[in-house]
Amino acid sequence: MTDEKKETERIRLIYDRRSGDERSRAGGADLRWLCSQAYGETLEVGIGRGRTLPFYSSSVHLSAIELSPVALEGARRRARELGREANLWLGDATELPYPDEHFDTVLFSFSLCTIPNDRAAIAEAVRVLRPLGRIALVEHVRSPRLVIRGLERIAEPLTVRCQGDHLLRDPLEHILAEEREVEYLERRMLGLVERLVARKPEDNDLAQAV
Ligand SMILES: C[S@@+](CC[C@H](N)C(=O)[O-])C[C@H]1O[C@@H](n2cnc3c(N)ncnc32)[C@H](O)[C@@H]1O
Repeated sequence: MTDEKKETERIRLIYDRRSGDERSRAGGADLRWLCSQAYGETLEVGIGRGRTLPFYSSSVHLSAIELSPVALEGARRRARELGREANLWLGDATELPYPDEHFDTVLFSFSLCTIPNDRAAIAEAVRVLRPLGRIALVEHVRSPRLVIRGLERIAEPLTVRCQGDHLLRDPLEHILAEEREVEYLERRMLGLVERLVARKPEDNDLAQAV
């Protein structure tokens, strides 16, 4: 087994053991904002116990994948309680069980910080997006403020060991590496929380860039 697969197994166990947080209101404004970016055929990656489910418009055709079977069961329960139709499946963000160009929107809500290979997860998200599709995320990230980043650097070994949670990541780098254009970018809470929407540049955008 590769080191990445071993780490993925470790993360699965952590989230299997974590007790229910599907009704947690923490980050509610961020989740509401994220879900408002969804349209059409939508995939949420790493849905956990389904905290986002109440915030999706009924017009969104929702699919989601989750690594932990226990968390997934929580999300399914939440969907039933809400009467929310959704295709919720066990899966790995780095090996999405969908064909190319299948979704209008792909969303991440505080999940990229725990996916061992976040670069591969973003590449997979881009693969399954339709040409005019959007990727949107809300994540805690590396702060641009030196003092805060120093604190993140001190805390990260512990958060990675206990929660598989990386504090010094910046998904924007991977989004740009995938040649996506940023449509919206906002940093909140001392730069710790990032809201981001990106899409593929249209051909005439590319023509203007050269
Ligand atoms: C911090 S929780 C966030 C859950 C949810 N998105 C929320 O905002 O409440 C991170 C979630 O990502 C999931 N996850 C981690 N690695 C994953 C992977 N490789 N594929 C799919 N899900 C993954 C974890 O199991 C966990 O449920």
